[in-house]
Amino acid sequence: MAPSLLSADLTRLAEELREVEAAGADLLHLDVMDGVFVPNLTFGPILCEAVRRVTRLPLDAHLMVAHPEPLLAPFAEAGVQRLSVHLEAVPHLHRLLRRVQELGMVPGVALNPLTPVSLLDEVWPFVGFIVVMSVNPGYGGQGLIPEILGKLAKLASLRDQRAPAVELVVDGGVTEQNAAALRAAGADILVAGTAVFGAKDRPKAVAQLKGVVS
Ligand code: DX5
Ligand code: ZN
Repeated sequence: MAPSLLSADLTRLAEELREVEAAGADLLHLDVMDGVFVPNLTFGPILCEAVRRVTRLPLDAHLMVAHPEPLLAPFAEAGVQRLSVHLEAVPHLHRLLRRVQELGMVPGVALNPLTPVSLLDEVWPFVGFIVVMSVNPGYGGQGLIPEILGKLAKLASLRDQRAPAVELVVDGGVTEQNAAALRAAGADILVAGTAVFGAKDRPKAVAQLKGVVS
């Protein structure tokens, strides 16, 4: 599971990251927003580079930006290992995914909630993971759109036929209550901000989201 930095206490970042790392988090999810593709603004490579120095978790950058190309090399230099771009934002997806790979990062593609899975038809050979947005991107703390479970199941069966090694990541509104259903529908990785950083007992929250304890 991948905690999202968006919901961490940014004034105590190093401590927050140590805590989720010790709790068994597998990746650190970094929500990059540009105020154009989504209405909100967050952070870029400079913060990722600082984060890199205080955690051993692999960094997973989710670029909710209209023009990702110029940011790819700076994110790679900042120590990001996995990087996803939005299908809706990128006209020249093949070139971009190849570039992400050339820079030594695992390329991923993120889909907004109502973007059809059929648009991934030609994409499977070029990605290591797909991010299924279960909220409209832009803010943490929103409720999961329930229809996403059906989309996820459809995507999982396509993935099994077309590219069994590609991981399915679910992002947005993930809670201890819906995590088991999401895993059952085919999610390999759950991203969670509020459910981890808002929890009183974070080790327990991480373990529940991973399905290690119920
Ligand atoms: C939404 C982001 C998510 C979000 C998850 O735009 O991509 O990663 O921060 O936060 P929660 O778990 O609070 O929905
Ligand atoms: Zn995200």
